[in-house]
Amino acid sequence: MARKKNKNEDAQDLKGKELKEDTNKEEKKQKKENEAEGSESFKIVDLEDIPHVGTAIAEKLRSAGFSTIEAVAVASPAELSSVAEIGESTAAKIIIEARKMANIGGFESGDRILERRRKVGKITTGSKALDNLLGGGVETQAITELFGEFGSGKTQICHQLAVNVQLPPEQGGLNGSVIVIDTENTFRPERIIQMAEAKGLNPDDVLRNIYVAQAYNSNHQMLLVDNAKELANKIKQEEGKRVRLVIVDSLMSHFRAEYVGRGTLADRQQKLNRHLHDLMRLGEVFNAAIVVTNQVQAKPDTFFGDPTKPVGGHIVAHTATFRIYLRKSKGELRVARLIDSPHLPESEAVFKVTERGIEDR
Ligand code: GTP
Ligand code: MG
Repeated sequence: MARKKNKNEDAQDLKGKELKEDTNKEEKKQKKENEAEGSESFKIVDLEDIPHVGTAIAEKLRSAGFSTIEAVAVASPAELSSVAEIGESTAAKIIIEARKMANIGGFESGDRILERRRKVGKITTGSKALDNLLGGGVETQAITELFGEFGSGKTQICHQLAVNVQLPPEQGGLNGSVIVIDTENTFRPERIIQMAEAKGLNPDDVLRNIYVAQAYNSNHQMLLVDNAKELANKIKQEEGKRVRLVIVDSLMSHFRAEYVGRGTLADRQQKLNRHLHDLMRLGEVFNAAIVVTNQVQAKPDTFFGDPTKPVGGHIVAHTATFRIYLRKSKGELRVARLIDSPHLPESEAVFKVTERGIEDR
């Protein structure tokens, strides 16, 4: 069965070159674009702040996907030594310094975890049936993966959540704003306007609380998580609507396009794990919901990899992860199935995608 045409295929030729390019350049470009659009610009965490790390090393690290101090802190000396082209002893020193600076590896007491769990918020999808499937809506401090074939409604649900998170709690929202990492250029403000109007919201206000960045490749996609952290901090300090939802649509397209062939699968998985880990941290720190999409083909035997395994392997054990498999049904109808949730029964919900957005049938 032919794979759906990847929307980024035209850009493929550039990709190899882009990968080697200085990610700072991308960041500047992104910044410029953000400024041009009148949205916020923000700064990324500097790897150069780690002792023994100069500009050259920092750039090599970034282009290998080590975009945060945390990522460096959990790397192995051999790994770091090979990507940064430095000796293993220097690599080890850098890792030790990064560990001192990063907030990792700490234990958290049970009561602290409980306290954090009590603050979990839920965002309505717009469909009661789908909300019930999820135990009340899309949870904060968790990663929710929407997977399914093209046209199954992944992007539509993302758009709807970007509107709904802005609603007050009594209407199923969190009074929050949203960050969207768009890898396939499928974010449509026009669609947001339709959905906002259907809810009686002012579309301009709704659009103002949605911060969108295009990711040009997987490294850039990972870098944008750092930028998201900075932006969320900035919004918090300025007492704007706090970021309560982060969307990555789609999580896998760049990774899939860039890592082809068996030999590169392990590398891909490693980077993906780091990316998901960074996203999970973001969700915990800001009490935000993380929603990622993943296109898979409808026929199980043509799945890329094992469809029953979580996309990024098993990530952070103590935090919930929801996987929703979406499939098309008659006309506007869509069926959602919750797959291997730790505390909810596996079941299905039917909803529909209409001009107004996601609704019950
Ligand atoms: P890929 O990104 O290609 O993997 O697919 P996806 O799962 O993200 O699909 P998406 O969420 O974009 O769903 C597209 C489908 O939503 C369309 O085929 C329509 O069926 C439906 N849809 C989108 N906009 C509208 C609308 O304004 N009205 C109605 N009735 N349906 C819509
Ligand atoms: Mg889509």
